[in-house]
Amino acid sequence: MSSTLTVDLGDRSYPIVIGRGLLDGNFDLNAFVRGSDCLVVSNETVAPLYYEKLCANLAGCGVNGINLPDGESFKTIATMRSILDRLVELRANRDIAVIALGGGVVGDIAGFAAACYMRGVDFIQVPTTLLAQVDSSVGGKTGVNHAQGKNLIGAFHQPRVVLIDTNTLDTLPDRELAAGLAEVIKYGAICDAEFFAWLEANMTNLLARDPDALEQAIRRSCELKAEVVAEDEREAGRRAILNFGHTFGHAIEHCHGYGEWLHGEAVAAGMIMAARLSGLPADDVDRLAALVAAAGLPTEPPAIAADAWLDAMGMDKKVQAKQLRFVLLDAIGESRVSSEYDGSRLNEILRG
Ligand code: NAD
Ligand code: GLY
Repeated sequence: MSSTLTVDLGDRSYPIVIGRGLLDGNFDLNAFVRGSDCLVVSNETVAPLYYEKLCANLAGCGVNGINLPDGESFKTIATMRSILDRLVELRANRDIAVIALGGGVVGDIAGFAAACYMRGVDFIQVPTTLLAQVDSSVGGKTGVNHAQGKNLIGAFHQPRVVLIDTNTLDTLPDRELAAGLAEVIKYGAICDAEFFAWLEANMTNLLARDPDALEQAIRRSCELKAEVVAEDEREAGRRAILNFGHTFGHAIEHCHGYGEWLHGEAVAAGMIMAARLSGLPADDVDRLAALVAAAGLPTEPPAIAADAWLDAMGMDKKVQAKQLRFVLLDAIGESRVSSEYDGSRLNEILRG
């Protein structure tokens, strides 16, 4: 059983197919490969688990592989270049498809390589972490980190299809599952109060990996993301709400060395900081903090000096005319992007 959503982008629209066991030879991924060959980009952790299964869904296609080192600290130009080198070594043509098999790190790097090789070749996402299934595989943001900041180098490059086999979550470590829940909570907080309440009622089931609950959370998250992306693909406006908690979160990742705090963990603490900055009623901030804590995620950031916070946040991609902009909540389920915030409250929040 599977369900399909569509990211509606005119002639670049694409399906998100969600189901259990799709990688057990149950989906003809080759139908999305235009030419005769593909390059599967994975990593040393995920490939041993799912590469062979994926190949079974690519019958008739010439499948090549490359495994990247595992971890956020390898989300660099150098790693991306190793994919380009592999494509050149294969003498790949413009009709090659690059397939990302892994979490958000593999997806972001592989997508960026696909965007750059021969000025852009087809890209397919097969996300295997909860975070990648609910967020990074959808919407076409690709890229790598720079020593001076998170995701500073990249391109918009939409996939042709996103194939989500929820069974891949069976092997995902608990800490990574929780990190993915941060982005799921984000959707409820920014644009769907009903979904937020559903998460409050179902967090225990999600942590127990109840397959129905997980599938429902993934589907709703993808629906919400697809809707926002269809409205504002290149983040000229509304899409920035998907960055709730990320201005603080990216600064945490940057200041603490990529990989120390997982992306989802940094976003979790960042969402609570952003909620405080929003001036939400204390009850709503408490609700958000309680849900984040129930997911097993941090509610407080690590110790970072205020000037280091400001330095890191100054490289945020939402900055305009040197002005920080934050995603703020007007209520649970309602958000806006604004450069108007209480500066003294920000200082208090940064000083802990
Ligand atoms: P990740 O890619 O590092 O994966 C987490 C860990 O789980 C890794 O060790 C990975 O090898 C392992 N893993 C993956 N699938 C597994 C499975 N099924 N079983 C066992 N282990 C598995 O981290 P992530 O949380 O998936 O992604 C985080 C990245 O995504 C960050 O770099 C973040 O910036 C990026 N991101 C991008 C977007 C976007 O729109 N492009 C959105 C959100 C996050
Ligand atoms: N994760 C933020 C975005 O896709 O816009």
